[in-house]
Amino acid sequence: MKNNKVTVSLSDDSHEYDIAIGDNLLENSGEWARNCLSKQTKKIALISNAKVFGLYGETVKNSLESANFEVVVFLMNDGERYKSLRTLEKVLKFFSENQIKRTDAVVALGGGVVGDLAGFAAAVFQRGTAFLQIPTTLLAMIDSSVGGKTGVNTEFGKNLVGAFHQPHGVLIDIAVLQTLPRRELTAGFCEAVKQGAISNEKLFTQTAEFLKKFPPNKFKKYFFDDDFISEIEKLITAQVAFKAEIVQQDEREDAARRDGKSRKILNFGHTLAHALEKVTDYKRFKHGEAVGYGILFAAELSKTLEMFDNNKLDLLNDVLRRLGKLPDASDINLKTVSETFAFDKKNIGKSLQWILLEDIGKPKIVDDREISPKIIDETLKKVLQP
Ligand SMILES: NC(=O)c1ccc[n+]([C@@H]2O[C@H](COP(=O)([O-])OP(=O)(O)OC[C@H]3O[C@@H](n4cnc5c(N)ncnc54)[C@H](O)[C@@H]3O)[C@@H](O)[C@H]2O)c1
Ligand SMILES: [Zn+2]
Repeated sequence: MKNNKVTVSLSDDSHEYDIAIGDNLLENSGEWARNCLSKQTKKIALISNAKVFGLYGETVKNSLESANFEVVVFLMNDGERYKSLRTLEKVLKFFSENQIKRTDAVVALGGGVVGDLAGFAAAVFQRGTAFLQIPTTLLAMIDSSVGGKTGVNTEFGKNLVGAFHQPHGVLIDIAVLQTLPRRELTAGFCEAVKQGAISNEKLFTQTAEFLKKFPPNKFKKYFFDDDFISEIEKLITAQVAFKAEIVQQDEREDAARRDGKSRKILNFGHTLAHALEKVTDYKRFKHGEAVGYGILFAAELSKTLEMFDNNKLDLLNDVLRRLGKLPDASDINLKTVSETFAFDKKNIGKSLQWILLEDIGKPKIVDDREISPKIIDETLKKVLQP
């Protein structure tokens, strides 16, 4: 199997795993899974949804079976609202009925919703079952499948119930991006721009250049171009390597850390993103699209506070524009957005921390108490109602 590789080594030595990145890897997923798992593993519970399984499920299942795994398949409903305790319960019941043992394994085939739910099910079933990820959205490839955060949404909030459960391996086959809807691509690229902005000039430029050369609106036709295949493999590998680097040295997101390598910096653009998703009842924006606005807001705020250069802000704006139009946000009541910030503050029980930028590749964690509410409100207006 020809592929790029990123190794994730967590401080607890017992855990090291590889992320394989390449083209047309699904047909070898059986052999790959065999290498990631213990020899005793007999059975695999493959978790997906009907849409993704319809496209890629048989290829993966056949490959796993030819590597001598017995495969049982659970298809969850498609959509964020099914990343729930109810679905979790169904999956656990499925494991139990199919006599999944601690030595068996769970494989997630899908986007972040399937990955988070299947990962959490694997984390809690018999106090921890081996888990493999085959992410099929761009967002899941560069973000959610790396780092071991798993969980579900509850009535108390999104992602509030979960566990850290590192996979035994991640398989990224870029060929599956051919069928990804355009908005999902844009959403994934917004997270890529986010990671570029907080990592270093090199990753940011690589991401920006890639988007200039291969704008997402014509994505499908590029897959016949060897140059594109090589560039996207390199970009995804670099993005994954950055996320892995952050996670390795702050696996559990130490609350006390305030430095520029804290896992918290991955939340760049996310305070506004979460508020926008919430005030539109999670219906208008894809998560990544909301992050697009969040990035612009955090960068604009950084500029207003005289931390961040105007030229850099323009650069960031340009790159995001290459992703195409984000859903309109101009009708959103700004007061409800700032109320959401206040609500989040109360929930954390202390001040909000904004992830701002001093430069591309230089994130800074700034306490909300250091920023006047008036500046926040004016910046919100500028970004959401230009
Ligand atoms: N664990 C983490 O660290 C982490 C990080 C970021 C996001 N997340 C979570 O990830 C979730 C969002 O993930 P997502 O953006 O992948 O959304 P998603 O899983 O809902 O997938 C988006 C849509 O694309 C479809 N799809 C997936 N792969 C496809 C393919 N190859 N071709 C055609 N259609 C395909 C899915 O069926 C779905 O309809 C959220 O729940 C978020 O909380 C988790
Ligand atoms: Zn995100």
